[in-house]
This record gives sequence, structure tokens and C-alpha cells, in this order.
Amino acid sequence: MKKLNRSSLQLTAGMGVVLLLAGLCIAAPQPQIRKQPFGTTTEKKPVDLYTLTNTNGVEVSIMTYGGIVVSLKVPDRKGKLQEVTLGYDSLDGYLKNNSPYFGALIGRYGNRIGKGKFSLGGREYRLATNNGESHLHGGVRGFDKAVWKPTEVRGQKSVGLKLDYVSADGEEGYPGALTVTVVYTLSNDSELKIDYAATTTKDTIVNLTNHAYFNLGADANILKHQVMINADRFTPISEAFIPTGELRSVKGTPMDFTTLTAIGARINQKDEQLIRGNGYDHNWVINRKDGSLSLAARVEEPTSGRVLEVLTTEPGVQFYTGNFLDGTIKGKAGKVYQQRAGLCLETQHFPDSPNHPNFPSTVLKPGEKYATTTVYKFSTK
Ligand code: GLA
Repeated sequence: MKKLNRSSLQLTAGMGVVLLLAGLCIAAPQPQIRKQPFGTTTEKKPVDLYTLTNTNGVEVSIMTYGGIVVSLKVPDRKGKLQEVTLGYDSLDGYLKNNSPYFGALIGRYGNRIGKGKFSLGGREYRLATNNGESHLHGGVRGFDKAVWKPTEVRGQKSVGLKLDYVSADGEEGYPGALTVTVVYTLSNDSELKIDYAATTTKDTIVNLTNHAYFNLGADANILKHQVMINADRFTPISEAFIPTGELRSVKGTPMDFTTLTAIGARINQKDEQLIRGNGYDHNWVINRKDGSLSLAARVEEPTSGRVLEVLTTEPGVQFYTGNFLDGTIKGKAGKVYQQRAGLCLETQHFPDSPNHPNFPSTVLKPGEKYATTTVYKFSTK
């Protein structure tokens, strides 16, 4: 046999490494972004749908109308992919129906502002009212109905979609022009991260969130889902769903989710807060020391084994159990959404904060930058 000398051995080994690396580059799956036209708004503005896919097969589709998460598919413990959010199959579904904010970006102010009024710098501002006397989720034409400007973002282990929108001074009654950027990032670790940022030209208030409805299993409702909310207190509401201003202990009440508990276990108890909310529709005060990204809630669906963890930099989370769904909406794949077909975990500053000086402030001034992050992390058990 021909003897190889030292340098030819090194050369052969070197070539081997090069070939191996080249092979890995071709074979290694990469996260993907796919863009497709998704129709036009009633004002004839074109809308696109961006589908982000990671290397575990998790797939999220987001459209430029409302920055809405139209679809989110994640595997169960056997690897079977299934849709885990509520919504419609087409843009028309969102335009023609009065969507209860399925998957939408919410702004300028997530949740309610009592009587649609607040004072800032000695001036009273009146906002559009669209929920009885209250201002809800940004008003009549909130960010959920805006067409956002998209930019694809490609990383090593993630893909993303950056969405930009400028809300004009006075829109829905809010002071200041607000320049908003929201970035959705899907990582190979099956985290869907949402980074929210904003700047203003005048003193104003901001509270951005996402209104995805989740159902991690195959049941028609979420009553068997188990939930943990990392909160010792919540903000009780009046009959108009407006916080009274109190931060109340959850101890000994059906609002205590400090340990994993099935949603259905106590939802029908004759508790004043549950009766007012028609179920769970309250803001929990997340246990935290600072504004760093930390665990707000965990949801487990026992049959599929799907687990959702919600991490956020925000001080609060609205846990809403789809109480207003009533079987009149026919959603994806013709599914009829009965009451409690989905649950929302809307990370946020507390509702009606501008009218409660004891709540963390939602004021944004020129020269300051609003920046918050929320992560929806999927796994199985
Ligand atoms: C939020 C509110 C609910 C309801 C839904 C939309 O979660 O807290 O009261 O308005 O949005 O239907």
C-alpha cells in the first residue's frame, strides 16, 4: 500500500473537513420567510401575508393589515402540527366581520380607558369611545385596522418581520404623532418574540400588545387548559370593566393561578369579579423586581402536551377567556367559535392607567423611547 507522507495526510484531512462543512451547509435546514399577496382592504390597499417557518416546523403567518397573526402552527408531543390560534382564513373574514381582535396588534392603548378621557400636562383629552362609555383597544380604528409597512428580517437562527406604522397626531383623539415599530421574530427554539417600540412628537400615552387567542388542543373550548399566572395580585374591575384602582390579593379567590389550575375549575363560581367579567377578563400584576424579561404565565394542554409560556417586560397581563365569543363567528376551516373557544394573555400596562396615578405610568414624552418585549414560547410535555 502506498504510504502517505505527512503533508498529503494533512491535505486529505483538510479536504475532508471542507467537504463535511459544505455538506452541512447544504443539508442544515434554515428558517424561512415566504411572502404572498393576501388581498386588498376596502380602501384598495394591498395586503401581504408573511409566513415564517423555523427548523422545528413551527409556522407563523402574519399579515400587514393590523399586523395580525393569521395562523400559528405548533407540534404536539408526537410532533403533529396543528393550528393553535383563532381567526379567519382570508383577509375578507377580518374585513367583513367584526373581528374580536383575533391575533391583532393593539394600539395606541391596549384595553380600556374609562369614559374615554384622561388628563396630561393639565389638558383633558377625549378619545373615541367604542365600548359603551369606554375607549377599548385603541378606538374605532385602532392599530389592528392599519396597514403596516413590512420589512423581512433574516438571522442565523431566526427569521422575522418588522412592521412600521405612523399614527398621526390626533388619531382617535391621542396627542402627538406616534412612530411605531413592531418586530415579530420566530426562532429555532420555537419562541415567537414581539418587540414593540415607539416615539412621539408630543406628550402622549402608549400601551401596545397583541390579542392572539390560543387553543392548544382539539376541544371546542379552553376549559381543560391549565394555567399558571405569576402574580399574587390582580386589578379588580367595576361593572364597566374599569379597574377600581385597588391591587387585590388573589389568595383564597378564583383569581389565584399561582399554581397550575384548570381554567374550568372555578370559572363558574359565584364570585363578584367573575360575574362582572363574565369569566376571566382581568389584569394580573406580574410578580417582578424590575423590567427585565420574565415569566408571566404558563399554559398546558394535557391531551396534546402542548405548552405555552409567556415572558414579558410588562408589569401586567390581561387573562381573557373568550367570554364574548357566542357561536356567531365561523372562523378558520369553518370552525364555529363558541364561548371560551380560546384564551388571550395580553401583556400590558394596567387598563385605565392614565386615570390611576398609583399604576405604573404609560406616559411617553418626546425624546424618550417606548420599548417592550413579549415572548410566546412553545414546547411539549
Ligand atoms: C379584551 C377585553 C375584553 C374584550 C376583548 C375583545 O381582552 O379585556 O373585555 O373586549 O378584548 O373581545
